Amino acid sequence: MKVLLTGGNGQLGRCFSDRTPIGWNVLATDAKTLDITDLIQVKNVVKSYRPNVIVNAAAYTAVDRAELEPELAALINETGPRNLALVANEVGARLVHISTDYVFDGEAGTPYIETAVTNPLNVYGKTKRDGEVAVKQIQPDALIIRTAWVFSEYGNNFVKTMLSLARQHNQVNVVSDQFGCPTYAGDIAQVIIELLISNTSGGVYHYCGDSSVSWSHFAKVIFSSAVQQGVLKYAPSVNDITTELYPTLAIRPKYSVLNCGKIEEKGIHLSKWRRQVAFIITSI
Ligand SMILES: NC(=O)c1ccc[n+]([C@@H]2O[C@H](COP(=O)([O-])OP(=O)(O)OC[C@H]3O[C@@H](n4cnc5c(N)ncnc54)[C@H](OP(=O)(O)O)[C@@H]3O)[C@@H](O)[C@H]2O)c1
Repeated sequence: MKVLLTGGNGQLGRCFSDRTPIGWNVLATDAKTLDITDLIQVKNVVKSYRPNVIVNAAAYTAVDRAELEPELAALINETGPRNLALVANEVGARLVHISTDYVFDGEAGTPYIETAVTNPLNVYGKTKRDGEVAVKQIQPDALIIRTAWVFSEYGNNFVKTMLSLARQHNQVNVVSDQFGCPTYAGDIAQVIIELLISNTSGGVYHYCGDSSVSWSHFAKVIFSSAVQQGVLKYAPSVNDITTELYPTLAIRPKYSVLNCGKIEEKGIHLSKWRRQVAFIITSI
């Protein structure tokens, strides 16, 4: 397998590089060495490396900031994957693209399946949805993996934010009326590898953590894990608050739980996110 990885410094990018199987060649690029919004650069890098797979871990992921920079978010989340799909076709490479639970509006009362109607509530979700559409049009056999609430030992994420708050306060307010499935980036990386090895047919797949929680419940799991692992002496108390009491620039779906039955049928196990929180918490 000869893989070109974009966004190699992000959470997923770094986790993917850490798990490169023996015998695979992975060229990890970052925003400086391969800006996915620059079609000429994409062409030059892809055509000189000639991968048989391109894994797009690059994205504009600042959900609130995207409301202020919609053009930049669209450039990275829609034009970028479009460029990669176009050039992947030119060299016969398969594209693996990552998308988000935020393509949904959160109004469903049951977990979303892959064919559920998308209706993003914010700029980030809309640009990610547009990226999916572009990839599907240009390379129908591309693998598009929608995931959710990503955390890891790398970059910025909710686990790190909560730990940092816990070190400064003995109580924290956390939203309790938005529900989703936390997902460890290392598990997403492993799933990409497994799907490539098994040459799984293209299309959209949902992949996320094995149980859904609210942000406040997620915070409680993080704190109790941190205390158990000796990372925190005491868990701060968590005050459940409503979304209305924590206004943000971007509107977020209230319920973005993904149904992962389609990928589970391929023999893929969902992210055991509680165990992964415990595993990474000592290293962050
Ligand atoms: N994080 C989540 O909670 C979450 C939830 C659902 C889905 N996802 C999706 O999962 C995927 C991986 O997310 P992540 O959390 O690993 O993201 P991340 O940590 O924010 O990493 C994204 C990477 O993309 C790079 N990048 C930005 N613009 C670029 C450009 N023009 N060309 C090349 N690289 C560029 C960034 O580099 P710089 O840092 O230098 O800008 C960064 O290293 C994304 O598709 C994301 O939409 C994430």
